[in-house]
Amino acid sequence: MDGQVTKEMMDSRRMPRHVAIIMDGNGRWAKRHGLARMFGHRQGVETVHRITEAAAEAGIRYLTLYAFSTENWNRPQQEVDALMELLVDTIAKETATLMKNNVRLLTIGDLARLPKTAQEKFRRCMEQTAGNTGLRLVIALSYSSRWELVRAVKQMVSEVQSGALRAEDIDEMAVSEHLTTAGIPDPDLLIRTSGELRISNFLLWQLAYAELYFTPCLWPDFTVEEFYRALLDYQGRERRFGKTSEQVKTDQEIKQ
Ligand code: FPP
Repeated sequence: MDGQVTKEMMDSRRMPRHVAIIMDGNGRWAKRHGLARMFGHRQGVETVHRITEAAAEAGIRYLTLYAFSTENWNRPQQEVDALMELLVDTIAKETATLMKNNVRLLTIGDLARLPKTAQEKFRRCMEQTAGNTGLRLVIALSYSSRWELVRAVKQMVSEVQSGALRAEDIDEMAVSEHLTTAGIPDPDLLIRTSGELRISNFLLWQLAYAELYFTPCLWPDFTVEEFYRALLDYQGRERRFGKTSEQVKTDQEIKQ
């Protein structure tokens, strides 16, 4: 969609309940500006701030951000350490803003792999914001979908062995409840910045019916208007969940 996009152009009744974002392109942004990679990540934090605010204002209920993947542990140690420090600093600094905007912080992923201070800061922020009733900001940390699925399978096997779960009771809901996203509705919209057309081990189970939106914009350049553009694009799509277009229209008429 070309041209200017404003908040007024969106239908507030058709907002996605859950938006997930793969924030990509910080390194390339830094390179283009002749800067070290960490400058890109720092600029990326500014984007996190404005998009979280815009999502809360737009009435979106869940915003999940892929901040650090299991595979990111393989980056040069210096970048890993600096990213951890940035995440911890950001959370400490932004807790007041989260409180002001009634945002509740949640995390998914293998938090136990994070440095103890980082675990502590995130836990504290989650506790402090636990009573907030607005947007749920879900940060994926040391997260990968295959890690999460293996963990869920192991947990279910162990429960079957102990008699807490019957094998014949394992259905889609049981699997969902064993993922780190238990209790969080599946994303309706996935946004990936920087022009890469991949899911990269992110929420593979949960994205089964999500609408996918890819933009060449690098994460530090991703503006609120670009975000609205993605939401507007989503609102123009027909979500069929495997049904025919005619069935979807009939369902909508019955609902109205
Ligand atoms: C991808 O860019 C980005 C990351 C791996 C980290 C994202 C982290 C932040 C934006 C920092 C803070 C986040 C929160 C939630 C406080 P890349 O380095 O893969 O970029 P490239 O593909 O251009 O190299």
